[in-house]
Amino acid sequence: MTKTICLALTGASGMPYGLRLLDCLLAAGSSVQLLYSQAAQVVARQEMAVDLPSRPSEAKAALLARLPAANPARLAVYGREEWFAPVASGSNPPDAMIICPCSMGTLAAIAQGLADNLIERAADVVLREGRKLVLVPRETPFSAIHLENMLKLSQMGAVILPAAPGFYHQPQTIDDLVDFVVARILNLLNIPQDMLPRWGEHHRIGED
Ligand SMILES: Cc1cc2nc3c(=O)[nH]c(=O)nc-3n(C[C@H](O)[C@H](O)[C@H](O)COP(=O)(O)O)c2cc1C
Repeated sequence: MTKTICLALTGASGMPYGLRLLDCLLAAGSSVQLLYSQAAQVVARQEMAVDLPSRPSEAKAALLARLPAANPARLAVYGREEWFAPVASGSNPPDAMIICPCSMGTLAAIAQGLADNLIERAADVVLREGRKLVLVPRETPFSAIHLENMLKLSQMGAVILPAAPGFYHQPQTIDDLVDFVVARILNLLNIPQDMLPRWGEHHRIGED
């Protein structure tokens, strides 16, 4: 069955994780509802020289131009105040929502239930409807405020999956590090991936 995944890009460092995740979700045949903040537009330009136009239809075209194999019908892009988007209502929640990368600002707003833009509202809906919410924060060091907000959200059922790649798979490239984090997200969604073997599933790392 097709999974409907809401993917939100916010203004934390780590845009390569978010855009690689988008590629993988579409390649896996998921339907993706994409949301992005103003700060995400800045970070996408800074980190990847990717232009994410403010108009959602133009952002969709720009994203699909990077992914020629993707089915355009599987990607819907919504603006920050598009309150009639499906994700704004508990009557039509996605199967899961991933915020990747997740800024400390958006994380704090969700922890407080602000629902002041579509990303915060969609997360609010997913939490109260008991759907999976995965937050991929990136900040260092964490302050007590960050840690308290993450604990609060974890206790509400959200998964906090920090953008903290491991090194035991002997990464050779930045793409390998990005794929580590993206593979862990896909595992949480039960979407098959072959970027990272599950622990103990095959030969020991380093052996042929
Ligand atoms: C290049 C760049 C990198 C940033 N990196 C981070 C980061 O790693 N973590 C974070 O919480 N905020 C980071 N910020 C700051 C956020 O973008 C800022 O707090 C913004 O208000 C978040 O808004 P949003 O949650 O609506 O995306 C960064 C900003 C820029 C421009």
